[in-house]
Amino acid sequence: MKLLIDDANLSNIERLFDLFPVDGVTTNPSILAKTQQPPYDVLRGLREYLGPEGELHVQVISARAQDMILEAEHIRNRVGSSTYVKIPAVSEGIKAIKELSKRGCRTTATAVYTPMQAFMAAKAGADYVAPYVNRIDNLGASGVAVVSAIHEMFRNNQLKTKILAASFKNVHQIEALCRLGVDAATVSPTVMEAFLQNASVNEAVNNFTADFEKLCGPGNTMLSK
Ligand code: G3P
Repeated sequence: MKLLIDDANLSNIERLFDLFPVDGVTTNPSILAKTQQPPYDVLRGLREYLGPEGELHVQVISARAQDMILEAEHIRNRVGSSTYVKIPAVSEGIKAIKELSKRGCRTTATAVYTPMQAFMAAKAGADYVAPYVNRIDNLGASGVAVVSAIHEMFRNNQLKTKILAASFKNVHQIEALCRLGVDAATVSPTVMEAFLQNASVNEAVNNFTADFEKLCGPGNTMLSK
């Protein structure tokens, strides 16, 4: 499963890429708004950091298919043609995805809450669909069950579209999708850092250090002896 960062703050992104095996970055209009910077300044900074082929997802705002298509081309011109353009999986969005996939533009169908949205986006030629796991959970349904249904639907219909699961609020949700073997998940910095937060693990590691320092003196490691 690929792991992407759902954030646009470059210092968060640099820190997480340095620590972890991360595969890319996703943004949406709300994430860009949090930066309080002009959107293309932020996106160009991200592109520069990720390189021309680094995986970056950027969402359109328009409501009509013809405007979504214009926006998609504009995003690709300004942020790079390898950019995945996120298009909401509503009727006009499916129309836009059909046309953009004919033009060879990479697309991610977003705001996916149901398997049928995913099915229509996949048939239209989307590269990814992005189901919103936690937002589905908050509606009283199961986000993991929706992703599992999409996974099965794509497999049984030989659809090549990949799943980029999004909207997570806890580690349990991601772990369930790792077990399913979905293609990718995009996670906020806070949730990604929580993957490895465990007081018992820290205590075990600290005890090893303390025991070694009792043997060899404070500050010593296997380098110094
Ligand atoms: O980009 C869509 C998705 O990441 C939304 O996440 O946390 O706002 O539900 P969230």
